[in-house]
Amino acid sequence: MPTAHPAPHPALARADAFCRAYDLRIPILAAPMAGACPPSLAIAVATAGGLGACGALLMQPPAVKAWVAEVRAGTNGGFQLNLWIPDPPPLRDQAAEAAVRSFLGTWGPDVPAEAGNVAPPDFAAQCEAMLAAGPAVISSIMGVYPPEFVARMKTAGIRWFATVTTVREALEAEAAGADAIVAQGMEAGGHRGAFDAANAETGMVGLFSLLPAVADAVKLPVIATGGIADARGVAAALILGASAVQIGTGLLRSPEAKLPPAWADAIGRSRPEETLITRAFSGRSGRSVATGYVRAARAPDAPPPAPYPVQRGLTQAMRDAATKSGDIDRMQAWAGQSAALAMPRPAGDIVRDLWEGARQILQ
Ligand SMILES: Cc1cc2nc3c(=O)[nH]c(=O)nc-3n(C[C@H](O)[C@H](O)[C@H](O)COP(=O)(O)O)c2cc1C
Repeated sequence: MPTAHPAPHPALARADAFCRAYDLRIPILAAPMAGACPPSLAIAVATAGGLGACGALLMQPPAVKAWVAEVRAGTNGGFQLNLWIPDPPPLRDQAAEAAVRSFLGTWGPDVPAEAGNVAPPDFAAQCEAMLAAGPAVISSIMGVYPPEFVARMKTAGIRWFATVTTVREALEAEAAGADAIVAQGMEAGGHRGAFDAANAETGMVGLFSLLPAVADAVKLPVIATGGIADARGVAAALILGASAVQIGTGLLRSPEAKLPPAWADAIGRSRPEETLITRAFSGRSGRSVATGYVRAARAPDAPPPAPYPVQRGLTQAMRDAATKSGDIDRMQAWAGQSAALAMPRPAGDIVRDLWEGARQILQ
């Protein structure tokens, strides 16, 4: 007697619906990674059938335009443009900054007092540049876009993916008009997306708890991110309620990511417990390889980091010198807890194999 063909796993049907809604062949998104998302990475992921990404935090409008033009010249696939929602201006404390400067002087070049006076690109001008570029998706982290901007995205037919780290933030993003929720577990590499910087370290929720809770709480599709870097992780995320996954660290060893070799190598050898949450690079909490500087900055006698973006300005000289000399101990080396699963392979192959492996698990 012929055996009945088993119905596909419901998680596959959910991923399929997401792919159809966003014109993808693979429900895998490159993570927006400010400073680590060259056009080559987006082109490779989008050409493989996923969604490319640009973390535009540090980019002036002409740079956003140039990034988009290069990606469009390299692929017909889609991409997301991403910004941080700005925090209120930081409170300055000259004495505290002097202590940080003197600490940093033991790790890199002397830091002048004015190094803390960083002026991030104008957020409104960056928003205009993203709208003008007309991407498939604009995403956010650290909060929600102002209502007028949300209305303009909708008029332009651009979908908004909102990154959240808690169920409360997911509900806030849904109420603000997001089209999908990116649930960022505390395993994630790079900055944590907590809406309120003060909650970034107290509200640490792992993806195994966050994902089903967010999927149950909102009606929107949920994209899982944080610590997903092999087919088991992709399949698990889909089973837990995700419609798609977003990969950051798992793509950073690909040649298309163009990372400094010392950082890429450190990712490959870092066990989960060898990454740490730190404010010592930027003033905002993020997950990094547990380097010499990150460990030293946590010591009880180390000065507390200045707020974002002051700390970013203060650490600039050390970070630049370290990148130049290839010194991992002083380099800004973001990495998620699944760093060691990242493979030094072409990004398109990584994405295709992740999806093929997940499909086999879910059949
Ligand atoms: C180097 C780096 C830079 C990042 N920059 C951004 C950013 O600009 N905007 C953003 O929304 N998320 C940013 N993230 C977070 C990622 O989008 C994503 O949440 C995270 O990489 C997922 O965890 P994983 O690295 O374990 O895959 C960054 C992550 C890394 C590793």
